[in-house]
Amino acid sequence: MKIAILPGDGIGPEIIEQAVKVLNALGEKFEMESAPVGGAGYVAHGHPLPDATLKLATEADAILFGAVGDWKYDTLERALRPEQAILGLRKNLGLFANLRPAILYPELAGASTLKPEVVSGLDILIIRELTGDIYFGKPRGVRIAPDGPFEGEREGFDTMRYAESEIRRIAHVGFQAARKRGKRLTSVDKANVLETFQFWKDIVTDVHKEYPDVALEHMYVDNAAMQLVRAPKKFDVIVTGNMFGDILSDAAAMLTGSIGMLPSASLDANNKGLYEPSHGSAPDIAGKGIANPLATILSAAMMLRYSLNLPEQAVRIESAVKKVLADGLRTADIHEAGTTRVGTSDMGAAVVKALG
Ligand code: IPM
Ligand code: MG
Repeated sequence: MKIAILPGDGIGPEIIEQAVKVLNALGEKFEMESAPVGGAGYVAHGHPLPDATLKLATEADAILFGAVGDWKYDTLERALRPEQAILGLRKNLGLFANLRPAILYPELAGASTLKPEVVSGLDILIIRELTGDIYFGKPRGVRIAPDGPFEGEREGFDTMRYAESEIRRIAHVGFQAARKRGKRLTSVDKANVLETFQFWKDIVTDVHKEYPDVALEHMYVDNAAMQLVRAPKKFDVIVTGNMFGDILSDAAAMLTGSIGMLPSASLDANNKGLYEPSHGSAPDIAGKGIANPLATILSAAMMLRYSLNLPEQAVRIESAVKKVLADGLRTADIHEAGTTRVGTSDMGAAVVKALG
């Protein structure tokens, strides 16, 4: 089994190093090969997604991705910015289904900014469509407005669009995930304003006919944002478009107190996937050895489950993470009085040890 290791920028390399350590300790035969991506790709080869990196990712069975982005690349033209690497990988590899679980570990209940009773036991799954919507829709750009009240003026524009088959396939992912969990799916849209999302709602309603055992609810995105902070435990699985999913998944992640804990998977139609922590590259703490590697380690566990068909090894890693938390080990982002503060590398080592 070949795993492409793409550390990226900022804290990416240090957190990936810990996940690789854990993978190497499992006693399986993985072939791992790394390549630069994001700002690191630009520095090495003049492009955030160098050809060799894309080739490696295409050939691998799974991809473990750190994070991309750093303020020092903000002045580059858009096509060369680090974020284009992750967008390019999603598009080129057809990784249309993004799974972002938000789970509150009981040991970290105090880390949430919400009252413990609102979040304790939280376990929701956001499924974000990842290769369509306004993120990729064309035309887009800056032009002279051809019509409207500001005709003749310069304007920026993007295009929101979803094809029927795109909505159907992500709806299936949503219903199937709900079927394996609490059998409740919330489809988030903005059907009251946007044509694209009225269409979305209609298609999801149609796909629902194939899943009579799953309860489907439709919710406008503004209300969904409100309900996520008001009563997040009412959700089971949420399925939504690329743009809304980007925003809601950050909000959901923070319910758990630390975005440093949350893994994610981006899957294609055959369960080949890219696995990355939900957090970003945090350039402000890069190289200090204080970043939380657990989201990346848990992403490696997701990779074992979804792409490499090693579910028992995934459970081993997840149990080890629970154990180090129960033992009171904390990186700076989740540290509180009475727990032991450890650095990135020591946290990785503790997980390796807890594998048993
Ligand atoms: C995410 C990120 C990306 C996105 C950026 C880095 C392009 O915010 O994975 O959520 O907007 O999808
Ligand atoms: Mg985001």
